[in-house]
Amino acid sequence: MSTAVRQSGVRERSQKRTAYRFPPGFQRNVLWYAFRKVRPANPIFLFQHLNQTYGDIAHYKLAHNHIVFLNHPDYIREVLVVQNDNFIKERTVRRTKMLLGEGMITSEGSVHRAQRLAAQPAFHRQRIGEYAAIMVEEAARTRDSWRGGEQRDIAADMMHLTLNVVARTLFATDLRQEVSELAAAINRIMSRYNFLIMLPAAEWLVHLRPPGLAAFVRERNRIDAAVYRMIDAHCRSGRDRGSLLDLMIAASSADDIRSRKSLRDQVITMFLAGYETVANALSWTWYLLSENPDCELKFHSEVDRVLQGDLPSFETVPRLRYTENVMAESLRLYPPAWAMGRYARNDFALGEFFLPARTTVLISQFITHRDPRYFPDPLRFDPNRFSPESKAQRTKFTYFPFGAGVRQCIGESFAWMEGVLILATLAQKWKLKLVPGHQIEPQPLITLRPKYGMWMQVEPR
Ligand code: HEM
Repeated sequence: MSTAVRQSGVRERSQKRTAYRFPPGFQRNVLWYAFRKVRPANPIFLFQHLNQTYGDIAHYKLAHNHIVFLNHPDYIREVLVVQNDNFIKERTVRRTKMLLGEGMITSEGSVHRAQRLAAQPAFHRQRIGEYAAIMVEEAARTRDSWRGGEQRDIAADMMHLTLNVVARTLFATDLRQEVSELAAAINRIMSRYNFLIMLPAAEWLVHLRPPGLAAFVRERNRIDAAVYRMIDAHCRSGRDRGSLLDLMIAASSADDIRSRKSLRDQVITMFLAGYETVANALSWTWYLLSENPDCELKFHSEVDRVLQGDLPSFETVPRLRYTENVMAESLRLYPPAWAMGRYARNDFALGEFFLPARTTVLISQFITHRDPRYFPDPLRFDPNRFSPESKAQRTKFTYFPFGAGVRQCIGESFAWMEGVLILATLAQKWKLKLVPGHQIEPQPLITLRPKYGMWMQVEPR
C-alpha cells in the first residue's frame, strides 16, 4: 500500500471519529465513578446518578465500549421503534444465553421471527380466555392453603403460584410435584446472575467449571432435566392439545439433537419470562396495598361488589377496573423488567447526537416511570393515574413495563389477566400486612425482586 493511500485511510478514519457527537457524561471510565459516587452492585444508583447529573441522555465508557443511557420518550421511541432495525439485544441479554440458549428473548432476525410466529396462537385473546379458569383454580388453591395469623414469604408463594399457572396453561403440564425444587434451582441461578454477567469470558469458563460456575451448571442441569422430562412426556403422549408446547414441537424442524436443544431453549425462556415477572409484579402489589390502606379499601370494595362472593372469571375481568389500575401503578413503581438494553449495528443519530456502531443503549423503566415530568409526585402510589382520562393525557413511551416495538412482550395480555385474577381471588378471603420491621429493598437482577423476600402477615377479611 502506498504511503499516500495509507495516509488518506488514516485521515478518513480520524475524520469519522471526530464526526461523532457524544452526549454529556462521565469523562473518566465508569468504574472510577462507580466506586467513588455510587454503589457498584446496584446499577439503578448509577442510572439515577446519570439522570440527575446529565438529564435525558448521558454517555460513558466501559473499557473501550460506548454506552448511552436514555430517559426521554422521543429517544426511547427512536431506539425501540423507529430505528429498531439497527439494534440487537445488548451484551447482558446475550449473556443470558448461558441459561436461556436461543429462545425468543435472546434470538435475533429470522430465528426470532420464526419463534414469535410459532408461539403467537398461544397468546390470542381467545386462548387467553381459556387460561382464565386455570389461573383462578391455582389462585384458589393457594388461597385455601393459607391460615389466618400466619406470616409467609409472599414472594415465594407468588413464584410457586405463577410457575404452576405457566406450566398448566402454556405447557399443559402439572408441575406441582416438582415446583418447589424447580423454583429453588431457578432462585439459586438468579442469585449468581450478576456475578456471571460481570465475569470476563463467563461463557467459556462455564466449560472449565471453576467453583461458582460449577454450581451454575449443576442448577442448570437440574432445570434442563425437568424441561426434557416435560418435552418427552408430551411427545410420548402423541396428543396435540394445542398448547404452546405443541405449537413449538410442530414448528421444530426434525427429531434430532439440535431441534431438541432448540425446543429446550424455547421452553425455558417462556417459563422464566412468564412466571418470574408476574410473581414479582404481584409481590410488589401486595406490598404497596399494605402500605396504602385507602387504596386497599377501594380495591377490596371493588372485589366484593363485582364478584358478590363468586370466584372471578374471564368475563368479570373487564369489570375489575380498579384492580387493574392497582396493578398498573405497581408496574410503574416496581417494574419487574426494570431496564432494557440494545446494541447498535451501525452508526446512528439520536437527536443532535451522532453515535458509533457498537454503542450500547440502556433504557430503564424504573427511572422513566419515576420521572416527575410524566408522573407528578412520582413516589406516591396512586392507581387513579391509570384512569382512562389520565392515560389519554400522558405522553407515549413514558410508561412501558412491557417494552415496545417488535420486541414488545408477547405475554402482556396473559400477564394482565393473570395478575387481576390472582389479586381478586386472594383478596376475597385475605388481607396481607407487611411484617413490621421487615426490610424492603428492590434488587435489580434479571427482574426486580424484593431482596429479602416479602414477609407478610395473613389476616382474614
Ligand atoms: C408483569 C409481567 C411481565 C412483564 C413486566 C414483562 C416485561 C417484558 C418486557 C419489558 C419485554 C421486552 C424486553 C426487551 O425488549 O428487551 C418482554 C419480552 C418478552 N416477554 Fe414479557 N413480561 C411479563 C410477562 C410475560 C409473560 C406472562 C410471558 C409469557 C407467558 C412473557 C414472555 C415474554 C417473551 C417471550 C418476551 C420476548 C419477546 C420478543 O423478544 O419477541 N412475558 N417482557
